[in-house]
Amino acid sequence: MTRARITIDRDFTIADVPRRLFGSFVEHMGRCVYTGIYEPGHPTADDRGYRKDVLELVRELGPTVVRYPGGNFVSGYLWEDGIGPVAERPRRIDGAWHTIETNEFGLHEFMGWAREADVEVMEAINLGTRGVEEARALVEYANHPGGTYWSDLRRRNGAEDPFDIKLWCLGNELDGPWQIGHKTAHEYGRLAQETAKAMKLVDDSIELIAVGSSNRYMETFGSWEHTVLTHAYDEIDYISMHEYYQERSGDAASFLAEAVGMDAFIDGVVATIDAVKAAGKHTKQVDISFDEWNVWYAEGLDSADQIHQVKKEWREHPRLIEDEYSVTDAVVVGTLLNSLLRHGDRVRIANQAQLVNVIAPIRSEEGGSAWRQTIFWPFARMAALARGQILRLAVSADQIATEKFGDVDVIDAAATWSEADGRVALFVANRGLSEASEVSVDLRGLGAARVVSAEVLTIPEGGDRHTSNVESAPDAVGLVPLTGVGVQDGTVHLTLPPLSWAVVELEVAVS
Ligand code: AHR
Repeated sequence: MTRARITIDRDFTIADVPRRLFGSFVEHMGRCVYTGIYEPGHPTADDRGYRKDVLELVRELGPTVVRYPGGNFVSGYLWEDGIGPVAERPRRIDGAWHTIETNEFGLHEFMGWAREADVEVMEAINLGTRGVEEARALVEYANHPGGTYWSDLRRRNGAEDPFDIKLWCLGNELDGPWQIGHKTAHEYGRLAQETAKAMKLVDDSIELIAVGSSNRYMETFGSWEHTVLTHAYDEIDYISMHEYYQERSGDAASFLAEAVGMDAFIDGVVATIDAVKAAGKHTKQVDISFDEWNVWYAEGLDSADQIHQVKKEWREHPRLIEDEYSVTDAVVVGTLLNSLLRHGDRVRIANQAQLVNVIAPIRSEEGGSAWRQTIFWPFARMAALARGQILRLAVSADQIATEKFGDVDVIDAAATWSEADGRVALFVANRGLSEASEVSVDLRGLGAARVVSAEVLTIPEGGDRHTSNVESAPDAVGLVPLTGVGVQDGTVHLTLPPLSWAVVELEVAVS
């Protein structure tokens, strides 16, 4: 048995919970759109082709904002292809994913779906093959009320009211040599600055996200952010971060500690933003949009084989990187969400990539069913229960040794406190693979507590740490009650099973 102590004090807060932290991502990639959120002819499809079974799961997952339409896809995408009469839309080659894009689904279809799903739209523009002109035209098309060329075209295409999209990504991963239209930091920084300026001249209420590094192992990480921010600081509102995590060579201990790496990555980008702010004598604060993160077995056979197979022929919506997530992956996702929440003062937007089928919490089969992957659960519970203020926790825990990060705390935790509801939500993972962890939570200054709910995701009976949810067994891994949670003299006691992620909701009486 390992031990940990968490001290919570309502006076030690980090920031309000940014609701946009629980974002997701829909890319025209693989089967995320086609046969994912959209499949006319599916038994559950509505008259616009939206799959209602998938929509129900999306509502249950609870993303607040969804990034669209890519991803690598957007760097070769012509947004005008996806508007107007569907029969007249061109079929195009998508070089990013070696796919035929029919353009049957475009901006209007996505806006309609987003309304059904009750999510904010975060639109990415193409700064790979395009530039200032196409970007400002798109803002005019989407957000201008009417009486101009592009806004009237939108109205003729069936949307009388403006879409009023507030969040815009200035391209995608342009630091990456794989990206169509890859640029140096100087080339991108200047383009982002001028594009941002022109877009805000059309609508000054929009918020803009400049492209940061594709991950922290990029050779240009750090200097890329510094250069881009130096050019565009005054025009942008956020800089992006992307990172995917995976277990390598069976080193589960290091994989389970990846939130330590995410913490360090975020701290590094915050330091770079603040250095540019100070040197440039800027007064406003640029924040972070961590707009792609997840577990992705990018180097695993699964993903690589799929892409290799696909490259043999041009197909519509091929099966791409449909990773099947395990108990271990769900615990890691829980800790990554904790890291994002702990940095909620500066990470104000985050998007798990992606939403359906492609490295996703929701899976669906063409003509078949839809189900929740293991990683669905930590996201859904945190999106539902994180409310009010993020608490700054003091954690004192037994250590476990990892090859990648040295000794790390055996538990990983984050918590929120909503004064309005009188509720504390605690999200805590046990990284230990073989030992349970006894955790005590001292609720200083929050008075007597009552446990409202306590749930845990862990290895199911008869399963192991690799167990996942599949079409034939969609509920193999889920949340079960965490038993034995007790409160004594202002301290909550809980025992976390080995390899687990738990959520405990407490009602507190502020003293
Ligand atoms: O989410 C899958 C891909 O990962 C995205 O298209 C790209 O931005 C990233 O490299």
